[in-house]
Order: sequence, then structure tokens, then C-alpha cells
Amino acid sequence: MSDAPLKLPPVIPVAVVENAADAVPLAKALIAGGLPVVEVTFRTPAAADAIRAIRAEAPDALVLAGTVLTTDQAVQAIEAGAQGAVSPGTNPEVVTVFQERSVPFMPGVATPTEIERAIGLGCKRLKFFPAGVLGGPAALKGISAPFAHLGIEYCPTGGVAESDLAAYHAVPGVVAVGGSWIATRDDITSHRWDDITRKAASAVSAATG
Ligand code: 3PG
Repeated sequence: MSDAPLKLPPVIPVAVVENAADAVPLAKALIAGGLPVVEVTFRTPAAADAIRAIRAEAPDALVLAGTVLTTDQAVQAIEAGAQGAVSPGTNPEVVTVFQERSVPFMPGVATPTEIERAIGLGCKRLKFFPAGVLGGPAALKGISAPFAHLGIEYCPTGGVAESDLAAYHAVPGVVAVGGSWIATRDDITSHRWDDITRKAASAVSAATG
């Protein structure tokens, strides 16, 4: 992230929230499972309202904005109260918006060239995406090795399953692992809050061994 690093739990549930009214029960279900964090993606028009609702009504949860692709979305995320943000790629204009407002931001990278570019923009914590198809923990280990002395940190995301968590966390520099399996779009629209709590607890225990 581009500013002071946020303290992240070991797993980041990535959520697509269709209806902002689902955001607070979602955050509470994750908190009940011991995972007080949610990445609300800007893939639906409800994202900003969902972030705002969680900040107001479930303040124990850390709220990140995800899939922030434009400077407009970055501003909306910040105004809604997002405490950090994430993108699948690295858009320098989006990086600047977050840096100017001192909101931690993780741009996405997939290659050494992209890591160099993100470092050049002042980013020190990066989303490795889409981690699974890029080759999983072994790929991240190899791609990140030349940057280890710079203290770059990573959040691999994309195609991750609970059974992968330990291997990703064993890669130097990995601070958190993201994924949508803990609270799928269907879980959220069907209000399966107990299932989300159970999957959150299971993911925490898999990640922390
Ligand atoms: C993301 O935005 O980070 C991904 O959609 C999450 O990837 P997953 O759905 O494969 O977990």
C-alpha cells in the first residue's frame, strides 16, 4: 500500500454486494467468524453505500474498497469511508488519488515488470492477481524474489481456495490472501450469514495453522 501499512488479517474476503442492505449483516457474519475485514468491490452500484453502511454500523470491521478501476471510484471509495483499497491492476492516476489522501492502496501486479513499475509509483504492498492462474505460491515466490530486499509485501488473490492458504502464507512477503469463497455473491444475496461465519472461522484457522 502506498502509505502507512494497514494491519491486515491473514485472509481478506472479497465481496460483491448487490444490495447495500446486505453489507452490515455480511460484515457482522465475518466478525462473528473472527475475520473483521471485508473488501467491497466496485462491481456493483451498491459498493459505496455498502462501505458507508459498514463504517457506520459495524465499525469493528476493516473495510476495503476493491476493483477500484477509475479515479471517480477511488474518490467515491474514500468519501464512503474505505480504510484502504485494492485494484486488479496498476493505474497510476488511481494510485495518485489514494496517495494524495493518505489512504492505503494495493495495486495489482502479475509480473516483475509490473512490480518494478508499482515500486516506482511508491507502492510497497501489492495485490498479486490472478494468483492461481499465474502459478500459485511457487510463481509468487519466484517473481517476488528479486524484490525481497526492498520489503515489498503481497496479497495474492484470484483462484485461491482455503487449502492454498498455508502455502501462500509461507511465501516471504505475503501479509494476507484474498478470495471470494468465504462470502460468494450467492451467499450474500441468499443471506447465508451462518455459512459465511463458518467459512470465515475455517479460513482463519487454515491461514494461521
Ligand atoms: C478479486 O477481485 O480479487 C477476485 O475476483 C477474487 O478472486 P476469486 O473470486 O477467484 O477468489
